Amino acid sequence: MLLLAPGIRYFPDYFSQQQQASLLDDVRAIVTTSPLYVPAMPKTGKEMSVRMTNCGALGWVTDKERGYRYQATHPVTDRPWPAIPSMLLDLWNSVGDYPQSPEACLINFYSEAAKMGLHQDRDEQNLQAPVVSVSLGDTCLFRFGGTNRNDRTQSIKLSSGDVVVLGGEGRLAFHGVDRIYPGTSTLLKNSGRINLTLRRVTAS
Ligand code: SIN
Ligand code: FE2
Repeated sequence: MLLLAPGIRYFPDYFSQQQQASLLDDVRAIVTTSPLYVPAMPKTGKEMSVRMTNCGALGWVTDKERGYRYQATHPVTDRPWPAIPSMLLDLWNSVGDYPQSPEACLINFYSEAAKMGLHQDRDEQNLQAPVVSVSLGDTCLFRFGGTNRNDRTQSIKLSSGDVVVLGGEGRLAFHGVDRIYPGTSTLLKNSGRINLTLRRVTAS
């Protein structure tokens, strides 16, 4: 484990190739019943470049009309989200350092050209619990800074199987994904990156 900044822990190669393949199978099963949809920014309705779905009791969604929120059902199918796979619950128990289980797992799919602007994760009532993030597939350039948008940022490449935890002082750190490096992993059939983020939403 490497401490990247106060409260930002990095576990390179946390998952083996075999575990990554198994996690990918779990993601494929989830996407079958809970398909990736196109999220849109609040108010402007501008589409994000990332495709999203969720698993867990609650999922993070966004659209033009209702903005950022957590809800128990898929915005397109209106069905409940599938359960969080046991490998991810095990991960949370191992690195989360938090007594309650995660309620939400956001699944982000990045095609070659997708990125995610610098932001804080602050739609959760619970800011005591960490955010635990898993990378699968192509390498990305991940940027993180402090709790103010203008704080100096650092960048690291995250590759398939890596885990990052934003907790404690790092829980509200600004972060984003500047770019994907297509063809840097053979895990996915085509290029692209999947990011899984586990969160506790409700206050304890
Ligand atoms: C996110 O902040 O929701 C995603 C971060 C990532 O893709 O690594
Ligand atoms: Fe985030």
